[in-house]
Amino acid sequence: MKTSNENIVLTGDRPTGKLHLGHFVGSIQNRIALQNQYDQCFYMVADIQALTDNADNPEKVRNNAFEVVLDNLAVGLDPEKTTCFIQSQISEIAELTVLFLNLVTLARLRRNPTVKDEMKQKGFGENVPAGFLVYPVSQAADILFCNSNIIPVGEDQLPVIEQANEIVVKFNSIYGETFRKIQPMISATPRLIGIDGNAKMGKSLGNAIYLDDPKEDVEKKVMMMYTDPKHIHKSDPGNVKGNVVFTYLDIFDPNKDEVKTLKKQYEAGGLGDVEIKKRLVGVLEEVISPIRDRRRELAKKPKLIEEILFEGTKKTRQVAKETMGKVRRQIKIDYFG
Ligand code: TRP
Repeated sequence: MKTSNENIVLTGDRPTGKLHLGHFVGSIQNRIALQNQYDQCFYMVADIQALTDNADNPEKVRNNAFEVVLDNLAVGLDPEKTTCFIQSQISEIAELTVLFLNLVTLARLRRNPTVKDEMKQKGFGENVPAGFLVYPVSQAADILFCNSNIIPVGEDQLPVIEQANEIVVKFNSIYGETFRKIQPMISATPRLIGIDGNAKMGKSLGNAIYLDDPKEDVEKKVMMMYTDPKHIHKSDPGNVKGNVVFTYLDIFDPNKDEVKTLKKQYEAGGLGDVEIKKRLVGVLEEVISPIRDRRRELAKKPKLIEEILFEGTKKTRQVAKETMGKVRRQIKIDYFG
């Protein structure tokens, strides 16, 4: 059931690697649900953003553009409902970025917590590429060029959306009412801990379970999962808090009552790690195996994926032209009509 034809949803992934369970619970599931609620949905391959810290590795970005689309389609993104396009093919986004850059200070960008975290993680220091430092501005353009206002993202993206809203306010106050406020939409599970117990699952952290991991890898990774280091013998009372296996069961196991009983058993002593890990393998397989199968089938049809992106990009260009026309009028750079 469509609830509104006014709201416009947009989301995207940086094509820097295959997507994992953290993306699945943090954003992909949400975007799949939203495509059934809203008339207008966009999915963007954020290749220009990926290049801001991979300028020297265009092959990686190009190859992963295909992979992230496959991941999303395999989970259930429907190109009939969601227009899929490639950021670099919409030149208006770059144009809008340049205009937005005048409305943001370097000091403000340096204070953006998401940018700060990522800069630290990537070890940039003062040698941060300018394009990377200003990516929140380009992300505001990603969102606003098509007038989207509902943005399903992971929790880490909230400061970026906040900054985009500051750009909206500034733009409107200088050039007149043009853009509307943006609403981030956070999933019920905005963050998934890594298999090692690290607060975040991440490719660079080496603690991820990928959406196309073969069953053997899922098994291996679950068996490696951090549990309770004091739970040595099956009979020892164990801790379920901070225990990755139980955290995952809470999220992925559909049988909440059984999980509750198992937790009690584990806390009392008498439930072994291997036993509970075997259950988790089964639960994760239920989630991953249909995705993996669909992904394999889709991967055999590269022409189909290309067609989806080609058509989606074509459609998106029209929207971009309209917005840019309006923006040019507002900023008085519409010289020749
Ligand atoms: N920065 C987002 C991420 O790293 C990807 C992205 C780029 C995005 N442009 C966007 C997400 C616009 C939502 C809207 O996941």
